[in-house]
Amino acid sequence: MSAPSTAPETNCNIDQATLGAFWMPFTANKAFKRSPRILAKAKGMHYWTEDGHKVLDGTAGLWCVNAGHCNERIVSAIQKQAAALDFAPTFNMGHPLAFEYAHRLCQELMPGKGLDQVFFTMCGSTAVDTALKVALAYHKARGEGSRFRLIGRERAYHGVGFGGISVGGMLPNRRAFGPMLPGVDHLRTTYDREHQAFSKGQPEWGAHLAEDLERLVGLHDASTIAAVIVEPVSGSAGVLVPPCGYLKRLREICDAHGILLIFDEVITAFGRLGKGMGAEYFGVIPDMVTCAKGLTNAAVPAGATFVQKHVYDTFMGATPGDGIELFHGYTYSGHPLAMAAGLATLDVYQDEGLFERAAALAPYWEETLHALKGHPHVVDIRNLGLMGAVELVPRAGKPGQRAFQVFTTALHKGVMVRVTGETIALSPPLIVEKGQIDQIVTTLSQALHEVA
Ligand SMILES: Cc1ncc(COP(=O)(O)O)c(C=O)c1O
Repeated sequence: MSAPSTAPETNCNIDQATLGAFWMPFTANKAFKRSPRILAKAKGMHYWTEDGHKVLDGTAGLWCVNAGHCNERIVSAIQKQAAALDFAPTFNMGHPLAFEYAHRLCQELMPGKGLDQVFFTMCGSTAVDTALKVALAYHKARGEGSRFRLIGRERAYHGVGFGGISVGGMLPNRRAFGPMLPGVDHLRTTYDREHQAFSKGQPEWGAHLAEDLERLVGLHDASTIAAVIVEPVSGSAGVLVPPCGYLKRLREICDAHGILLIFDEVITAFGRLGKGMGAEYFGVIPDMVTCAKGLTNAAVPAGATFVQKHVYDTFMGATPGDGIELFHGYTYSGHPLAMAAGLATLDVYQDEGLFERAAALAPYWEETLHALKGHPHVVDIRNLGLMGAVELVPRAGKPGQRAFQVFTTALHKGVMVRVTGETIALSPPLIVEKGQIDQIVTTLSQALHEVA
């Protein structure tokens, strides 16, 4: 599908009967199965469809393939590990790679931040649930079991577990599922188009929105609040970049009231902002960090929850004798294939300097993307690091339809972008070349002109 060739309407060689059984996630199943979009292989910056059309990946899969597709060192590490030790339990047993990867992450990715304990999970959703449970249990272990409240934020995405959708703030992900976790409240969103539209990087306006946490403290009392969880940059809600000073102020308010601060870095970790972690980029250190996706370059599903030493030590100190300190874990915590993939991924990030590469490309990304200002339907453009968003005015009475059509039109022209609500979200692998950034933006420009 690379320009100038265009893809046929559907490239699917799977028959309708076979297509039926897979209930696809976050997908309009009936519509998809009428007109499937099937990817068959990938390498570097590209996917190929079954019939050989080449598609430039403008979204790193799902914000996750930061080192590019099918990196040989990562592939080889997984292959070797699968043949040597396919699975080993980490409940009361161990295997070397889990310890090695945990050690290296804490030493090499988190130096000087105190985030030197890590709990492995299966994905971002389980990393979030782990962090929320650790926050509650931490306060209980310190003798402050009255702190049961968890504070999220409007327009946040924290995965799909009950904890994650409770602290999350996206209505479609919540409304069908009955009562959420008790004791959850939400900060106001940091996004206000009237004051922030077309900001390049962090908006100047909006640091005062962190004071909303003081409002919730005033309403509930700090003695009932365990933790605040935010994405440093909201990803799935449409790349909502925090106003200058907002995260720092949130940290100060949490400190003043003994509330734990959790950064959900499932998207922002591993170089997306040009640093190992968003926490490093913003210079604000939370008590816990959740991540997934780039942790293994998405080649094997995995997540992780980093905690400050003082949190871990509280559990160790509060548990008498040799008892289990945290009744929590997953069959696949520290899975050997994930650990092998993760170690190789970390090597690739370091040896190829991918975080620095992302930082160096960010100004070009910003300038090129903002050239779409003034294009049909465009009401805002946002960016930070190698994240970007182009927000469109919706069609009357048909939410999301126009943005979805821009997505399918761009795909037809050989570029895969992501659509979330009225927003086209962009997050190319960190190996992207300037010419490929041009291709993404040129293709979007054409799609915006073509779509009514
Ligand atoms: C910030 C954030 N948290 C949690 C998740 C959930 O991750 P997963 O889909 O791996 O469960 C995501 C996924 O996009 C995310 O962006």
